[in-house]
Amino acid sequence: MSDRSAGRPRVAVYPGSFDPVTNGHVDIIERGARIFDLIVVAILVNAEKSPLFTMQERVEMARDVFGHRANVEVDTFDGLLVDYVARRQAQVIVRGLRAVSDFEVEFQMALMNRRLDPAIETVFMMPAEQYTYISSRLIKEVSALGGRVSGLVPETVEQRLRAKHR
Ligand code: PNS
Repeated sequence: MSDRSAGRPRVAVYPGSFDPVTNGHVDIIERGARIFDLIVVAILVNAEKSPLFTMQERVEMARDVFGHRANVEVDTFDGLLVDYVARRQAQVIVRGLRAVSDFEVEFQMALMNRRLDPAIETVFMMPAEQYTYISSRLIKEVSALGGRVSGLVPETVEQRLRAKHR
């Protein structure tokens, strides 16, 4: 395994659709920010054909939540994740693992990414227990049907969800 990190700041990329960012994501990012010199929240362009939030909205929400943190950056990416990670001169991909059900797909992605670029390591982090059942998909569904999602997403996201479904 080659080492791209010698003497460099430890940079991690936390990729995802973030449609929208949830408190589970926030928890992982805060944990990552304690470990790495910089954690880049990398929002995938065109993750879904019809996301609820536009790219700009997703970026704005993430920046609202993390703007005050010196070592958290919000960016967008397109194409292969490993190419983006290399462009950012990062060494690590961070992914959250909520339950065993996440494992299979995450395992496949981590090994594929390793095959594509053996210099990049995937690090899995577990969110706090109270967030283990949250997903962006469930948040959107509950909110669209008029359910309360407070405490599960940041305030700014809750407001924007309400505005979308008004
Ligand atoms: O939040 P998500 O939808 O679980 O994130 C999935 C994501 C963005 C990490 C994944 O779809 C991805 O990395 N897409 C970029 C294209 C790519 O590199 N595909 C091969 C991954 S093995």
